[in-house]
Amino acid sequence: MSRPRVVVHNIASADGRLTLAPDVLLLGGDERWRAVDDGNSSVGDWLRAHHAPEVMLEGSGSFVLEGAEPEPLPPFDGDPAPLYEDYLPGAIIGRAGHRGWFCAVDGRGRVRWEVKDGAAFGPAWVGWYALSIVHQATPPAYLAYLQREEIPYLVAGPGPQVDLATALEKLGGKLGVACVLSTAGGRLNGALLRAGLVDEINIEFCPAIIGGIGTPALFDAPPLQAGDWPTRLRLLSAEVRDGGRVWLRYAVEQAPVRE
Ligand SMILES: NC(=O)c1ccc[n+]([C@@H]2O[C@H](COP(=O)([O-])OP(=O)(O)OC[C@H]3O[C@@H](n4cnc5c(N)ncnc54)[C@H](OP(=O)(O)O)[C@@H]3O)[C@@H](O)[C@H]2O)c1
Repeated sequence: MSRPRVVVHNIASADGRLTLAPDVLLLGGDERWRAVDDGNSSVGDWLRAHHAPEVMLEGSGSFVLEGAEPEPLPPFDGDPAPLYEDYLPGAIIGRAGHRGWFCAVDGRGRVRWEVKDGAAFGPAWVGWYALSIVHQATPPAYLAYLQREEIPYLVAGPGPQVDLATALEKLGGKLGVACVLSTAGGRLNGALLRAGLVDEINIEFCPAIIGGIGTPALFDAPPLQAGDWPTRLRLLSAEVRDGGRVWLRYAVEQAPVRE
C-alpha cells in the first residue's frame, strides 16, 4: 500500500503564528487565543467529512512545552528488546466500533495521555483511540508506560527523530490508514513538508497579528539550504469566512518547480 494521503490544517494569525508565544500551549485553552480564533470555524468538520481521515496527527509540542519536564515514569528493568516491536495488540486494534486514531509523534516519550478514548470529547469522537509513534531510541520506560496504558504504538526508524516516511508507510500498511489529517504545530508539519510527505495544505488565517521571534509559526522547518527550492502550491480554493477569516486550500506540487 502506498503511504496515506497527508492533509494539513492549521489556524494561524495573519502573520502565520500558531500560538501566542513560545511558552503558550493552546491545548488547555487560552482567552487571548480565543480573541484570535473564536472556535466557531467549521473547516475542521468539512475536512473530516471530505477526506474521511482515519488519523488525526499531532506532535509532542501540542502536549508539552519544549524544555518542560514531563511527569517521571518508573524505570524499566526488564529485557527492553521486545518493547521495540510495533505494539498493535489485536484486541485493541480490532475493537468493535473502531473509527480512527488520535496519533502523536513522540520519539522522546514526552506525552502523558490524559485521554485515550475519544468518547471523552463527545459523540463525534466515539471510536477514536490514542496511538503513539516512537523510534528505536525512545526510552524503554516510555514504551513500557504505553503498554501498561494499552496505547498502541508504531516504531519508525532508528532515531533520534521519528522517520516520518516509515511512520506513514506503517500507518498505511499495518493499520490500513488512507488519509492522515495533521493539525500539528509548525515543527512537525514543517518536517513533513520538507520530507515531501504533504499533499494538501489548509490554512485558516485569522484577522490578528501576533508577531514574536521564535513564536511557533506555520511550517517551522530548518531554513532552505543553497540549492533548495520553495515548495510550490496550487490553489484549490480561497474563501472569506465570517469574522474576517480567510481559508486557503492548496495542493502541494510534489516536484519543486524552478523558474
Ligand atoms: N494554531 C494551530 O493550528 C495549532 C496546531 C497545533 C499546535 N499549535 C500550537 O503550536 C505549538 C506547538 O508547535 P511546535 O512547532 O512547537 O510543535 P510540534 O509541531 O508538535 O513539533 C514538535 C514535534 O515534531 C517532531 N519533529 C520535529 N522535527 C522532526 C523531524 N525532522 N522528524 C520527525 N519528527 C520531527 C518532534 O518529535 P520529537 O518529540 O520526537 O522530537 C515533536 O513530536 C503549541 O503552542 C501548540 O499549542 C497550534
